Amino acid sequence: MRIEEISTFVPPSRTLMGPGPSDVHPRILLAMGRPTIGHLDPSFVGMMDELKVLLQYAFQTKNELTIPVSAPGSAGMETCFVNLVEPGDKVIVCQNGVFGGRMKENVERAGGTPIMVEDKWGQAVDPNKLQETLSANTDAKIIAFVHAETSTGAQSDAKTLCEIAHKHDCLTIVDAVTSVGGTPVKVDEWGIDAIYSGTQKCLSCTPGLSPVSFSERAIEKIKARKTKVQSWFLDLNLVMGYWGANTKRAYHHTAPINPLYALHEALVILKEEGIENAWNRHQQNHLALRAGLEAMGLSFIVAEEHRLPQLNAVAIPAGVDEAQVRTRLLQEYNLEIGAGLGVLAGKVWRIGLMGYASNMKNVMYCLGALDAVLTD
Ligand SMILES: Cc1ncc(COP(=O)(O)O)c(C=O)c1O
Repeated sequence: MRIEEISTFVPPSRTLMGPGPSDVHPRILLAMGRPTIGHLDPSFVGMMDELKVLLQYAFQTKNELTIPVSAPGSAGMETCFVNLVEPGDKVIVCQNGVFGGRMKENVERAGGTPIMVEDKWGQAVDPNKLQETLSANTDAKIIAFVHAETSTGAQSDAKTLCEIAHKHDCLTIVDAVTSVGGTPVKVDEWGIDAIYSGTQKCLSCTPGLSPVSFSERAIEKIKARKTKVQSWFLDLNLVMGYWGANTKRAYHHTAPINPLYALHEALVILKEEGIENAWNRHQQNHLALRAGLEAMGLSFIVAEEHRLPQLNAVAIPAGVDEAQVRTRLLQEYNLEIGAGLGVLAGKVWRIGLMGYASNMKNVMYCLGALDAVLTD
């Protein structure tokens, strides 16, 4: 490509019904376009304080340390592991899809020893297996699991898994990238110690930020570390100099000012709707999509009781070229749905109904377009 040919990028207008990013609410795009101000400007600092309160609402927690990490969901994941895992720590990682595998990788890179609890992709994490593994590893310090596995569309019982962890005096690290705003996530009620999410799924915000929250127990472990957190950027002791309560805000890194306006607006929208109403909306739209898909003879790969309403993993019918269907949906209908990941590549489509994109218009549009392409 010659540089002379390049000018302003104007993206096509798509309907995003894949595994994320999801459609961004127009109010959020407007918020993002507001004038940039300094990251230590008193007005900006006031907005940061509001953001923390709004995030506490989204996570259903009173945790003081509830902030957005200035990078995508993977950085929120890494923030939890690099701060909580010390070299030599034994960490039980439950894996039932792609993202549990990344947790294992994070434990290893932080110098910990992962002990894996494996479940089939498409199934929820089995609490009995966790119980057995904890009984056989009484020196484990942390358990980690993905609440909403975006790669499979399965949701695990976070409340029960946290109860088991606490009986064994373990801290919990929970991936809620796809669940926050779409299905109940109750950090305080369930006793979650460290949790991270993403902005680009059920919060309908632009990608690139990762809300996190840490309990007092987790903070105690971080403060009692014998070794420095090996990541300077994600070391919460340093980040809190900028985000912490009652501190004189000190420069750590230049905050992503406009994306933070966007997150603020996304959370105001969530608050205005009411979080329970948002959960119900996701469930209702999922039921409508399910009715239509089943009427077309399509089936889900996850058992009904573990299905994520915001991420519908549908088995590809025999004889169908799944990639060609997705390409036609994109080219002819401007509609994005997701492909399978890992062992489910080529076996499923992942249809997202996340945040702003979880509405009846999208349900009907997707069903109509998919029906037309499949019939063809
Ligand atoms: C469950 C889960 N965890 C972690 C991530 C990583 O988030 P990001 O792509 O924003 O880094 C994703 C992204 O899809 C996810 O679905």
